[in-house]
Amino acid sequence: MSAPWWRQAVVYQVYPRSFADSDGDGLGDIRGILSRVDYLAELGVDAVWLSPFYPSALADGGYDVADYRDVDPRLGTLDDMDALIAALHAAGIRIVVDIVPNHTSDQHEWFQEALAAGRGSAARDRYIFREGTGEGGAEPPTDWVSMFGGSAWERVADGQWYLHSFAVEQPDLNWGDPDVRADFVRTLRFWSDRGVDGFRIDVAHMLTKDLTEPLPSRDELALIPVDGRHPLLDRDDVHDVYAEWRAVFDAYDPPRTAVAEAWVASDRVPLYARPESLGQSFNFDLLLADFDAAQYRRIVTDNLALAARSGSSSTWVLSNHDVVRHATRYGLPAPARGADGTPLRKHGTEWVLAGGPEHELDREGGERRARAASLLLLALPGSAYLYQGEELGLHEVADIPDEHRQDPTFFRSPGVDRGRDGCRVPLPWTASGPSFGFGEGGSHLPQPAWFARHAVSALAEDPASTLALYRRALALRRELQTGEQLEWIDAGRADVLRFRRPNGWEVVTNFGTEPYELDEVEVLLASTPSPVGVVPPETTVWLAPAPTLAG
Ligand code: GLC
Repeated sequence: MSAPWWRQAVVYQVYPRSFADSDGDGLGDIRGILSRVDYLAELGVDAVWLSPFYPSALADGGYDVADYRDVDPRLGTLDDMDALIAALHAAGIRIVVDIVPNHTSDQHEWFQEALAAGRGSAARDRYIFREGTGEGGAEPPTDWVSMFGGSAWERVADGQWYLHSFAVEQPDLNWGDPDVRADFVRTLRFWSDRGVDGFRIDVAHMLTKDLTEPLPSRDELALIPVDGRHPLLDRDDVHDVYAEWRAVFDAYDPPRTAVAEAWVASDRVPLYARPESLGQSFNFDLLLADFDAAQYRRIVTDNLALAARSGSSSTWVLSNHDVVRHATRYGLPAPARGADGTPLRKHGTEWVLAGGPEHELDREGGERRARAASLLLLALPGSAYLYQGEELGLHEVADIPDEHRQDPTFFRSPGVDRGRDGCRVPLPWTASGPSFGFGEGGSHLPQPAWFARHAVSALAEDPASTLALYRRALALRRELQTGEQLEWIDAGRADVLRFRRPNGWEVVTNFGTEPYELDEVEVLLASTPSPVGVVPPETTVWLAPAPTLAG
């Protein structure tokens, strides 16, 4: 029996509002994605993961969902989704959709009902409402801070407060409520029945909560170990929810898959990745790593061991819609923090690392190191998650004027955290035109002039481009990838990593600034032009299996 498709899949993340716009309203849409299925097929991805495309007031880029079983009318219709699913499948590409179960939008009919129904109602019990403290309950129930800054509680007209771990417009659901549990099962079936192959589960570690009074203060919370019994995070009982979902997934043929977005301690990741839970979990370690051989080696070794413990395969990610693009991270001096978008910001023309000196971005160096890192990642056992635009060598757009910013993290910090808009700017498809071919109209986030150099039309013709590199890498990976083992080879240098995959496919990454000499071997692919017998600085090469000696 062959291994399930997802174990070593290349999954390409589409941020629908910023991918392709079919109707010229400046927002990407489902028909736009449909018009680019050929591009995705030519790139060679195994699956596409769509960030939320559901009806939303866009308080958090669509992660504030008003209806889990519909399509935002600005993005299309359910018929368009059916057409997209069919077209992707016809091209041999699977589709994964984002499920956001920790919170709804405040526009969701349940929340509107809860507001209308008042205190003590069953409708309020689907969310987390509490009385305030202080005189007249005018102070929030606790001093907890939301992930996006500011209080985690918001007061409603009748004086009660509700919990929102993220934006004010994202009230947290109460996972102790049977309606909530039943409704998500319905949603998972709804999309599975329509042919969706899998689900990416947003903040999978936060659903269940123990809000028994008295609630701890923020300082007290910080002292409670996150060991499965923490009141808010990574609780063991969240897996009861996923066990129920697993039964839903396994009722389909082939079983539907899921991947957890769980920001938890490494030794807790296998709980989410177990086959009886979600089956796979993101490993975000590379988002936080410097371009550094020792860090990469440790991360790869540790995560392969963790994956083995859960029986799942590992996942590798260098960029996504929440972090500064890796070409930019690697274009700043190490330690180039800002992976989480927080301490890294643009001030005038300079990059600023919070609390540190100002740095100019090294554009070429960043792109070179990003290519080397991507080629390494694509050779690792497990699934590779790519984020739209990284195949174009895109940098973060750092200088979006404040009046165009959309991300709540920018508004709630306020303004200190530059937010995540810089990696969500619509893609350049052509080197000219109103929105670089994104659509006939404008673009909901302004595109900089330098996007022209990264346009698909320009890169597609250039064999040395990052796009050409990704296409060749994905095609070769299909041929070369067999088992899931990785064997380290001593490279003789601390700044060079070398490993072998099952059929003799070898990979060398030179993280250093001195060339690395190779024996006589055939180079299949290199992330920078490489002379025979040499791996240049900051370069990854893939080597053909060594010829066996005759006789
Ligand atoms: C996840 C998403 C992020 C979103 C947050 C709240 O971390 O990736 O974009 O803001 O959840 O839903």
